[in-house]
Amino acid sequence: MPQRSLEFAQREGRRYWWHGGQDGPGFVPPVYSFLTEDEWGIVNDWFDETDRCDLIGECQVPLISLLQGLVMGNMVGGIVQAGHYAGYSTLMLGFMLRRMGRRHGLFTIDIDASLCDYTRKWVERAALSDYVLVKCADSSDPALPDQAREYFGGPVRIVFIDSSHTYEHTVRELALWCPVITPSGFLVCHDSAPFAEIFDRTGKGGVRRAVTEWRQANPAYEAINIRGSASHNHREGVYQDGCGVFIAQKPVPAANAS
Ligand SMILES: C[S@@+](CC[C@H](N)C(=O)[O-])C[C@H]1O[C@@H](n2cnc3c(N)ncnc32)[C@H](O)[C@@H]1O
Repeated sequence: MPQRSLEFAQREGRRYWWHGGQDGPGFVPPVYSFLTEDEWGIVNDWFDETDRCDLIGECQVPLISLLQGLVMGNMVGGIVQAGHYAGYSTLMLGFMLRRMGRRHGLFTIDIDASLCDYTRKWVERAALSDYVLVKCADSSDPALPDQAREYFGGPVRIVFIDSSHTYEHTVRELALWCPVITPSGFLVCHDSAPFAEIFDRTGKGGVRRAVTEWRQANPAYEAINIRGSASHNHREGVYQDGCGVFIAQKPVPAANAS
């Protein structure tokens, strides 16, 4: 009997590309193998239900694996997510936080009330309510950073932006959230590759233009814009998510730097 995500290789549909094809991985990625049987059961049920409801818009194995490395490799709580859609990354980050005992570790925001209700339902079903707060709001709302810090009872360590994909809104999110990231903390922006500019419905250059301009204005950050392949053909590049990801690390003030 196939184990965990190995069975995904047989499934049709655009969300299963990582698992299938002639050059499919043939192994369960660590982001799924670390889960308990019950947790994997939740993830599997989530995929089944969101397939039936056509709620497909989550990040994929390359990005959630990268986040797992940052979060679990460094035992990090204090995570803000802008844009949770149907709850995939919320559940996955919630399972990581629970394994590490980091209660009140994820403050996740989405502007769509029905998607917030849907995600909340899955958070409760996964018994992750002590670890995750689902907030319905525009992720560029200036009231949010204080609410996030209050929920964490400490600093914001990682901000993961995966929301509107529009240039102007992303500019506002960067201006709001970067100042509150703690020194040495991380900004992670999905969809920063040239390919992903098509997701900006305003046609103004999307996340890529926003992070490129932000980078020029913030040279003290360490930063990399990781590109996937030039198209949605995910098997061309080393980093296999064609949408790309921008990662920046906030500088540590000189007196504290080692
Ligand atoms: C690509 S999906 C997020 C996927 C999620 N990070 C995951 O991997 O499971 C983008 C989400 O951003 C939300 N969104 C769009 N504009 C927003 C805004 N202005 N503020 C907050 N959320 C927004 C959408 O409602 C949608 O659910």
